[in-house]
Amino acid sequence: MIRNLTDRRVLIVDDDRQVRRVLGEFFAVNGYKCHTAGNGQEGLATFDAERPPLTVTDVNMPVVGGLELLKQARALEPDAAILMLTGMADVETAVESLKQGAYDFIMKPVNMDEILIAAERALEHRQLLLERREYHALLERRVGEATRDLAATLRELEDTYRSTLEALGSAIDTRDLGTQAHSRRVRGYSLTIARAHGVPEAEVRDLEHGVLLHDIGKIGIPDAILLKRGPLTPAEWQIMRTHPAVGRNLVSKIPFLRGAVPVVYHHHERWDGSGYPLGLKGEAIPVGARIFAVADAFDAMTFDRPYSRAIDLDSARAEIQRSGGTHFDPGVVESFLRVPLEILAEIRRRSTE
Ligand SMILES: [Fe+2]
Repeated sequence: MIRNLTDRRVLIVDDDRQVRRVLGEFFAVNGYKCHTAGNGQEGLATFDAERPPLTVTDVNMPVVGGLELLKQARALEPDAAILMLTGMADVETAVESLKQGAYDFIMKPVNMDEILIAAERALEHRQLLLERREYHALLERRVGEATRDLAATLRELEDTYRSTLEALGSAIDTRDLGTQAHSRRVRGYSLTIARAHGVPEAEVRDLEHGVLLHDIGKIGIPDAILLKRGPLTPAEWQIMRTHPAVGRNLVSKIPFLRGAVPVVYHHHERWDGSGYPLGLKGEAIPVGARIFAVADAFDAMTFDRPYSRAIDLDSARAEIQRSGGTHFDPGVVESFLRVPLEILAEIRRRSTE
């Protein structure tokens, strides 16, 4: 709290009893409440107990001198206003005391008007320091509050985005596969493989978005092709293969989702270059898309689909291991094989519920 200018207490420290008495009476007449002490040690004890806004101290005193008192008092109260009384021979000490944070020094013999003006100024100066400190503390509190509010809002926004993307992913699954959980399971596998593969956490969110939206381009594929029973004609395949590009065009327009583009656009590339849309090879394929390919294939093999029966998780893992270096990035396959089977089974169970 700011102590205001009505706090007019002064501590007078001088080993000369006469000086103490005269200064004490003078300050009292001018509306100050006075404490006095006869040396630096006594002065410090009184300062510590009373914390007066203003201290007037002699420099040369027995036991503890004025400079030491100044240092220790400022250590207790950084904003303490302190005036030094110095003899004519003590100019160096006076300068030193200013360096140590004294507000001013007054030459002895003391001119009473001079010391009163200095005292008022010292108190005003101290008041400004206190107000500035208070203002800074207030600003810091406000900034802290605003930052916390912002972080909470951001988290809410991200949750909302995620739910929206999940719903969209499920909608895509439903139209294509007649099941909603494919995207959710592939997301679970992809994130786990990504972490086993050492993908930086900052990139995992983009990967997640890409996985949920990977087939969004199928919105542009007619039902007659997408839902056709039996093999597609070459012309129909050509249309089917446009879905990564359609997806990229949709997703790249949304700044928040731009990081999902590599997975959306490249999720049908293969390690050996036999995939589409660009036929990229090896590490030219974005790592997110390489991870997705393994996760997607694992899910496709372990769930019944219109054109294939499910196989058990272990066999599916072996199948993926066999395709490392041809269909899949062998490094990603290695990371995938490091994920315990129970964890894969748990992801499958939770995402299907
Ligand atoms: Fe696809």
